[in-house]
Amino acid sequence: MLPVVVVHGGAGFIPRDRAEISCAGVREAARGSYAVLKSGGSAVDAVVEAVTMLENNPAYNAGKGSVLNVKGGVEMDALVMDGRTLDSGAVSAVRGVANPTQLARMVMEKTSHLCLTAEGALNFARAMGVPEVPEESLITDYARMRWKKNLEPGANPVESQMGKMGTVGAVAVDVEGNLACATSTGGIINKMEGRVGDTPCIGCGGYADNQIGAVSPTGHGEAIMKVTLSRLVLFHMEQGKSPKEASDLALDYMKERVKGLGGVVVVDPKGTWTARFSSLQMAWAAAQQEQLHYGLYHGEDFTEPI
Ligand code: GLY
Repeated sequence: MLPVVVVHGGAGFIPRDRAEISCAGVREAARGSYAVLKSGGSAVDAVVEAVTMLENNPAYNAGKGSVLNVKGGVEMDALVMDGRTLDSGAVSAVRGVANPTQLARMVMEKTSHLCLTAEGALNFARAMGVPEVPEESLITDYARMRWKKNLEPGANPVESQMGKMGTVGAVAVDVEGNLACATSTGGIINKMEGRVGDTPCIGCGGYADNQIGAVSPTGHGEAIMKVTLSRLVLFHMEQGKSPKEASDLALDYMKERVKGLGGVVVVDPKGTWTARFSSLQMAWAAAQQEQLHYGLYHGEDFTEPI
């Protein structure tokens, strides 16, 4: 069944006028990432490729298109994990880079640390020769419109962000049976400056272990952190549950215990995959055996040749 890649473009409510571009973007990213796997690329190469494509796509809340913090700035979080070694790298509250996931990979591969934050992460990017980009280039009209709307008297940013997520992520198994995950986000709309969500926190915003599986989640970061969602999915898989059963158990627990909604994409070492969510929608796509699967609403699994 190997190789396989599964990507998501965020759980929540996707307005009708954005549904098509949201679905198109995850399909494109799954195809691009699958091509990396087919040409012998590693699982880490594949997830970084998928998430980079989604960060560059303004339809999602990651990289270009990130939501804005309360001051109108862009602070991004990202995580990469290699299931062979359990090495991981993350950046939190980073500004001024186009692809936080690529920077997270550099943290994993070029430092002895697991996470760099804010100014320190940007200084590291500069030292690595990563081009700095103007904040304006990451801000879309849509993000600015939502930010302004949530500053209006009577607005309820918490409610609005519960409805519209857009974090992106990917999990993959390569031809050698190695697993990896990557997740990237602009966080939650009108968040406090310096807020760090689940995404860069290992076990919360992702986990990959060749012996168990790999997970990339999406949803309300504070809820995901309270239940360490990614590691919780893998805990259930260690107890013998399938990726689908484990995902549903973990998402149900998050809903019941902390009233949190979200979604996950998951693979196991054999290449069994799933995309599950407790929110109304989640844009997802999976590529395996020359078939592309995708969906947006519960129960959907459209297929087309790659
Ligand atoms: N899950 C993304 C965030 O809450 O930051």
